[in-house]
Amino acid sequence: MTNPASPHRPLRIGLLTAGGDCPGLNAAIRAVVARVTASGSAVIGIRSGWEGLINGETIPLERDDVRGIVARGGTILGTSRMDPYVHGKGAESVRETMAAARIDCLLVIGGDGSLRTAARLSSEGLPVVGIPKSIDNDIGGTDVSLGFHTSVQIVTDAIDRLTSTAESHNRIMVIEVMGRTTGWIATYAGMAGGAESILIPESPYDLKDLGDRLTQRHRTGHDYSIVVVAEGVEPPPGYELPISVDAFGFSRLGGVGSLIARELERLTDFESRVTTLGYLQRGGTPTAFDRVLATRFGVRAAEVAMSGSDGLMVALNGDRVVEVDLDAACRDVRRVPLDLYSQAGWFFA
Ligand code: F6P
Repeated sequence: MTNPASPHRPLRIGLLTAGGDCPGLNAAIRAVVARVTASGSAVIGIRSGWEGLINGETIPLERDDVRGIVARGGTILGTSRMDPYVHGKGAESVRETMAAARIDCLLVIGGDGSLRTAARLSSEGLPVVGIPKSIDNDIGGTDVSLGFHTSVQIVTDAIDRLTSTAESHNRIMVIEVMGRTTGWIATYAGMAGGAESILIPESPYDLKDLGDRLTQRHRTGHDYSIVVVAEGVEPPPGYELPISVDAFGFSRLGGVGSLIARELERLTDFESRVTTLGYLQRGGTPTAFDRVLATRFGVRAAEVAMSGSDGLMVALNGDRVVEVDLDAACRDVRRVPLDLYSQAGWFFA
């Protein structure tokens, strides 16, 4: 679909960050603003994600507003998990602010949920372009999402540190990482950190078997084991996690690592400890890879929006940044392929 904006007059490009934050958002904001303003068009920043769009919280973003933020974590625009279809009047509430702020095309830097909302708005005639960000890396249509690389590095550094303390005490160290429905962070960081086991939602696990293997490992001269667990795996049989939801009705995960550590201690002769990395995985400065990816995504998304195209998402395909259909990209959750997971398995205890 093509938005009505003419590429020959200065355009007004709306920009928001929605869903959970991640490293690289500011680098993407900077790139969009630099590219759009260099063409004589304007960027209208929207605060706090969809919530700010519904409430008309807009702020002009000039080139000087985004200087010095390429390395800064979080998002200068703020974000929220609010969804206009669940908490507002859907496209109607968004259309009002877009018209009032004279926004020609809306750039949405979002995860799977926010991009699904963007695709729905697009199907209802609103000009929208998406930029995929998610430390969970679960968005279809792109080889990688913004923020994932940094999280993997943070978790890998943590595994390296936890290995030395586990080794000193002859312990099993369970490390719980983010990954609501997919085990991308667990698989990559577990592989990079040399984990003895990686538990992900995509693959069932057998704790009795794992316990036997770890016992054998510790009895044969190895004095530590690293078990990486994605937060979205099912609790061990007989256990349940308390149900808790956030202000927007999304379930809060976390806690399965403790249950697994407790069970592993019971099933083996060895002490187990758990470390839940939580929001450390999302905070702070992006890696060089994510800064470059954010810059390339931001520049390309700005060019797509200014060309008058919409209903698209920028994506990484091999080493090229391309555009893909937004709706198709968000249709399915991108799961860890089992051939990748089984490669990590060659190093399991
Ligand atoms: O960004 C995705 C994610 O990191 C999930 O893995 C996690 O469950 C969720 O965000 C938690 O974020 P919040 O508490 O901010 O909703």
